Amino acid sequence: MMKKAYIETYGCQMNVNDTEVIFAILEKAGYGRTESMEEADLVMANTCSIRDNAEQRIWGRLDVFARQKKARPGTLVGIVGCMAERLKDKLLDTGKVDLVVGPDAYRRLPELLEAITPDSPQMDVLLSREETYADITPVRTDRNGLSAFISIMRGCNNVCSYCVVPYTRGAERSRDPHSIVREACDVFQRGYREVTLLGQNVDSYLWKSAEETVDFAELLKRVAAISPLLRVRFQTSHPKDISDKVIETIASIPNICKHIHLPVQSGSTRMLDLMRRKYSREWYLERVAKIRSTMPECGITTDVIAGFCTETEEDHRQTLSLFEKVGFYWAFMFAYSDRPGTLANRTMKDDVPPEVKNRRLQEIIELQNRKSLEEYRKMIGKTVTVLVEGPSKRNPAELCGRASNNMMCVFPAGNLKKGDYTDVTVTDCTSATLICK
Ligand code: 5AD
Ligand code: SF4
Repeated sequence: MMKKAYIETYGCQMNVNDTEVIFAILEKAGYGRTESMEEADLVMANTCSIRDNAEQRIWGRLDVFARQKKARPGTLVGIVGCMAERLKDKLLDTGKVDLVVGPDAYRRLPELLEAITPDSPQMDVLLSREETYADITPVRTDRNGLSAFISIMRGCNNVCSYCVVPYTRGAERSRDPHSIVREACDVFQRGYREVTLLGQNVDSYLWKSAEETVDFAELLKRVAAISPLLRVRFQTSHPKDISDKVIETIASIPNICKHIHLPVQSGSTRMLDLMRRKYSREWYLERVAKIRSTMPECGITTDVIAGFCTETEEDHRQTLSLFEKVGFYWAFMFAYSDRPGTLANRTMKDDVPPEVKNRRLQEIIELQNRKSLEEYRKMIGKTVTVLVEGPSKRNPAELCGRASNNMMCVFPAGNLKKGDYTDVTVTDCTSATLICK
């Protein structure tokens, strides 16, 4: 009988996609997928290390997994992903795990599983310069069968001073464009209508072979050419690398969605220097101006960190003023969390007191809530094309779907069904939804 694997996924979208790759690899080892921990032979967490509280949650889950192992002897427990990479044998030392595997070693899961005995847990946390899992077709775990995530690269070559990613996911490498286009074609044929191309820094995507050189703009074109009915999204862009060529490509091809997630991290050039972001406030604002002049309808969203090392009230005001100026319609907002091993951890002092960090974060959140509502209000009266996702959560008589700029829309069901495109007119809004007819 086929064994069963249960995986909980934490952290970013890339981790969600990695879990899908892991399921595909586990199939070869005779494991099917289950969504119930109780019936699983293998229980795993695909973990995140980006902020301390992300890791704290995993320690709590380990206790739950340990209880499950007691209740069902023989159950194997694994920790994979960024936290496995960062903490390595510290995880094994807890005595609660049978398996610790880093993001570049998933191919070895079958043999590692095979080698586990009660006295010999297994670990592989080697990072690779080549692994992109290009040839592995992920087992889709999304529930809607409409929107698929496709990794186009792994790792990261930037060394932002606050970030663990270069240490947990290793050096940047781009995946063969043919395997990407093949995967996108395959999901389109299975009825999917949207693909999101994923990378830590998609603008530095670069594939070189004897026959060709493919950059991110070219990759976007190739994926968009699969069908006008296939929407193409991508994340994450880097302000220092997003080129005019990429912006113009997005503008010129209708089925490339007009949404750019462009993490700013801080509005103060002094902070950006300390963060090693390699751009200034002015550079960021210029890129936003270029996007807006090329595609006025483009939605821009961002990430920001409050209270990074040495941040002053003046630096913080610069962040607030940048948020006021740009008008993001959505933002992920964080208080700085010192992460062991990063450049900031080794060379700077985490000297902004927690209450100050949190107060600044609150100020950013309040400003952003107001700006979100403003940006959504600007849409009232406009007509947008949405891809129908399914019934709206609030009111099952209505449908929901996203506009090209990624704003969520709700509208009367009519004769529409999942996967249809339809034009709707915005009549009202909240700070997170467009209400349409
Ligand atoms: N502390 C707080 N936020 C962080 N991020 C990354 N590292 C840290 C950290 N040490 C945020 C950044 C990044 C997002 C994914 O998480 O804003 O863009
Ligand atoms: Fe994703 Fe970063 Fe978390 Fe790793 S540490 S799972 S790359 S968000």
